[in-house]
Amino acid sequence: MNEVLVFNRVSFSYEEDKLILQDCSFTVKKGEFVSIIGPSGCGKSTIFRLLTGLEKQYRGAIQLMEKVGYMPQRDLLFPWRTVAENASLALECTGVKPKKAKENALRYLELFGLADYCNKYPKNLSGGMRQRVSFVRTFLTGAPVLLLDEPFSALDAITKIKMQEWLYTQCVNWKKTILFITHDVEEALFLSDRIMVMTERGTGIAHEFIVPLPRQRMREDLQRTEVLRLKYEILQMLYQRVAL
Ligand SMILES: Nc1ncnc2c1ncn2[C@@H]1O[C@H](COP(=O)(O)OP(=O)(O)O)[C@@H](O)[C@H]1O
Ligand SMILES: [Mg+2]
Repeated sequence: MNEVLVFNRVSFSYEEDKLILQDCSFTVKKGEFVSIIGPSGCGKSTIFRLLTGLEKQYRGAIQLMEKVGYMPQRDLLFPWRTVAENASLALECTGVKPKKAKENALRYLELFGLADYCNKYPKNLSGGMRQRVSFVRTFLTGAPVLLLDEPFSALDAITKIKMQEWLYTQCVNWKKTILFITHDVEEALFLSDRIMVMTERGTGIAHEFIVPLPRQRMREDLQRTEVLRLKYEILQMLYQRVAL
């Protein structure tokens, strides 16, 4: 009920003898913010490649009830296009004329606090700003479901916190459904309604946790006892089999 995305017993491998996902199942409901957390190489980005149709040779069933917008792990901004021209690309790809696309992009760049950067080139932006532009480009696809692949993992700690707060506000305002990949437990706790954990040697979602916080939350809420307890439970699950 109300599901916008369903993975039902999906198995997938790039090479014949190495399963990346085995009978992997999960669902995402309309309006939810769900994170997938797991160590590098466990198959997180592969889930997005399957959802966006980049990989097609899988077993099981994948259902998408709404259009999805995909923000890949690397920002992939074109260096020869300005911020506005990069952002408008999503619209141009759907057949909107470049001039109209740019006007529309400018409106949204302004709404997302990027008005002063419209005519700059990617090389003149900080990492956080590049990620914002990349997010606006994904947002402009108009898709109600956004797939965000580790958007903040390359940022320094302070910028990362600012960007999480920025994203959180945007999500509350725009009521998007978000599937968010990260390997940062605090980030997942701060942003999500639900966290799905993938482990080092697993081949799918090992466990799901509901974040015991209301939608309107503050960073201090991460210090609540029940949240700290959940943080350690997730950390333990993630790293229990890693030999130090
Ligand atoms: N195109 C590919 N061909 C072969 N193996 C791949 C390919 N892409 C990813 N892999 C392998 O699949 C595994 C999962 O990759 P990925 O989904 O990118 O992991 P994550 O996003 O969790 O870091 C890794 O072991 C990776 O080396
Ligand atoms: Mg990845």
